[in-house]
Amino acid sequence: MKKRQLGPCVTFFPQPATLICTSDRQDKINLMMASWVGIVSKTPPTIAVSLHHGRQTYANIMAGKVFSVNLVPARLAVAADACGLVSGSVADKHQLTGLEVVPGTVEGVFLVADSPLNVECRWLREVELGDYRLVMGEIVEIHACESAFDDNGQADVRTFDPLVYLGGLREYWSLGSKTADAYSAGSVLLKKQA
Ligand SMILES: Cc1cc2nc3c(=O)[nH]c(=O)nc-3n(C[C@H](O)[C@H](O)[C@H](O)COP(=O)(O)O)c2cc1C
Repeated sequence: MKKRQLGPCVTFFPQPATLICTSDRQDKINLMMASWVGIVSKTPPTIAVSLHHGRQTYANIMAGKVFSVNLVPARLAVAADACGLVSGSVADKHQLTGLEVVPGTVEGVFLVADSPLNVECRWLREVELGDYRLVMGEIVEIHACESAFDDNGQADVRTFDPLVYLGGLREYWSLGSKTADAYSAGSVLLKKQA
């Protein structure tokens, strides 16, 4: 495969499209689009979000030490993108988008009701990375859309319909079709070698 060097930049995809939901000291809700988000430990369950230090979201997290990460379904692309275009310090994005939020199980945590997957977090620690703060959150609870599950507890990803962000290309896509089973498909190569 012939390659083009892009230099030291942040082009990398796919990335999840999420809404970080926080509130300030006056309980004013704020929603921010974030794609630099990922699970970083299973034991203990931990999620990390990289935030520019100037974000209202970062100020809210530092004040309240709690936040939620909400998966964006493809049908909410426009509302979620709006939450990436303007800061909560100058606009009320809760009102602008009309997105309903509901309380989580932890005091001060609010969840986006129309998101099929909400992750409730308590601030754990952060790492300074230039202008950014890699904020790690202890995962306290995950709320997954009930209707996604069949009688055997198997979840159908089509119900979640996650919006996918292509960093560098600045485009949102939807998931395509299932390609293979993880922790399984590669075993054919291991068997060949044995
Ligand atoms: C697709 C997309 C992904 C983004 N991801 C991040 C991110 O991971 N971290 C970040 O600090 N800003 C990210 N932003 C920018 C913030 O969403 C934007 O600056 C927002 O206005 C900050 O809101 P706040 O000040 O209310 O927290 C992203 C924006 C878009 C459109």
